[in-house]
Amino acid sequence: MSDRIKRLAPSILAGNHANLADSLQIAESDGREWIHLDIMDGHFVPNLSFGPQTVADLRSHSSIFFDVHLMLEQPDRYIDPFIKAGADLISIHLEPDYDHSAALSKIRQAGIKNGIVINPDTPINGLIPLLDQVDLVLFMTVFPGFGGQKFIHEVLSKTEEISEIRKKQNLNFLIEVDGGVGPDHVKPCLDSGVDVLVAGTAYYKLDRFERKQFAEVVEKS
Ligand code: DX5
Ligand code: ZN
Repeated sequence: MSDRIKRLAPSILAGNHANLADSLQIAESDGREWIHLDIMDGHFVPNLSFGPQTVADLRSHSSIFFDVHLMLEQPDRYIDPFIKAGADLISIHLEPDYDHSAALSKIRQAGIKNGIVINPDTPINGLIPLLDQVDLVLFMTVFPGFGGQKFIHEVLSKTEEISEIRKKQNLNFLIEVDGGVGPDHVKPCLDSGVDVLVAGTAYYKLDRFERKQFAEVVEKS
């Protein structure tokens, strides 16, 4: 097991969109240190969520770490607004066609963390040349666009592979999984090198005690 801190990052997409500040408060008062914010454009994924104004308004309620996941056809065009809105980390997908290196470096130059994301059916070879430029690699364990889908176990062979490369090359990025994650997935994820587990539906449907237990399995292992 590595000495990287393990974390459960609740995904606010599964919260109450008429009162996201409350959903944020639930995670924060549970003691979570990260919150995952999903930004969808209706093009890269077949759904819409919320934009920089919502992120900025949530920022004024909390200093929790904002893990912002951009599911956008042109993520490089929206980096500045999300930096201004108060993101602590911005993850951008590998699949669309834009200058990934330039976008990743723009995020870092703003003094926040960057991340690269891949879909379940995207091969990892495109990731390899970027590994020394990223703070986080996010593996989608569902096809992005909607919460409440089923976890795709096969993705863990990729997290394992990337975790091996991280070790061999002495790199320090975090490995995150997102989509369909519930308490039953914690062990296989951690065993495959994952550091941060995003959970939306499974987290917000639990009561306070169960949420605490879920997070403790991740964070105390
Ligand atoms: C899916 C989003 C996920 C989603 C996870 O497109 O990127 O972050 O909120 O939600 P669950 O845990 O419900 O799959
Ligand atoms: Zn996400």
